[in-house]
Amino acid sequence: MPHSLTQAQSRDLLALAARVAREAGELLMNRPVTFDISAKTSALDFATQMDNASEKLIVDALLKVRPQDGIVGEEGASRPSTSGITWVIDPIDGTVNYLYALPGWNISIGARDEVGPLVGVVHAPTVNSTWTAIRGEGAFFNGVPIYCNDPITLDRALIGTGFEYDVAKRVEQGRVVANLLPLIRDLRRMGSAAVDLCYVAMGAFDGFYESGLKEWDSAAGGLIATEAGAIVTTNEAGITVCAGPALHPALARAIEGSAPI
Ligand code: IPD
Ligand code: CA
Repeated sequence: MPHSLTQAQSRDLLALAARVAREAGELLMNRPVTFDISAKTSALDFATQMDNASEKLIVDALLKVRPQDGIVGEEGASRPSTSGITWVIDPIDGTVNYLYALPGWNISIGARDEVGPLVGVVHAPTVNSTWTAIRGEGAFFNGVPIYCNDPITLDRALIGTGFEYDVAKRVEQGRVVANLLPLIRDLRRMGSAAVDLCYVAMGAFDGFYESGLKEWDSAAGGLIATEAGAIVTTNEAGITVCAGPALHPALARAIEGSAPI
């Protein structure tokens, strides 16, 4: 029977997610000699054997402790919840970075209840970074409280973004970049939406936007950014904008006014 969790139970959920993310991180730091690459929605969108192995490790470990919970995983894990809690998992966010041995790829694990996102962990072992949040309890970077930058004006804003795997959408995203670039301090494309959101949370970016994000891209990072004081919205066109309260409306206007995505 679904019911609201106590503060102690929410903390247990976060501790479980953090432990499981660390275990997946250990698995992933042990890089394979060769990669098996399987195409997903297009040749640009792919998974490796390590995405699948990480998802299996995470799902098995979560269900071992909480067999009644639901699962939504990027690589296909899916199961309904009878506890009221559903885990939303990206077993490697930043698979392209992972393949090329670039830093910043991460394991993103969120849990939601009937209200919305409840806990989130983004664990990026290559940069010794773990971001966490529980709804209503603030956001943390390696255990230290974090806050987004605010107030920031658009012309002083360092903005992160990312691009979809769909080539036609990338053409539109390129137009938005061309319009936005003269209005801001600078732009970064790091390769992981989850870390981008955490960068806003800790003030390493002033803002972030991307169109076409999936639930597993933002389940944990979106909660972490919100708990750090940022506003996170996704409009009808599927454009997610994340920034401190002063910057958010200006950034959203600049992006949404640029072009349809
Ligand atoms: C991708 C990364 C990337 C973003 C893409 C995502 P994946 O996730 O977060 O930064 O631009 O939209 O799909 O495919 O590596 O899990
Ligand atoms: Ca992924």
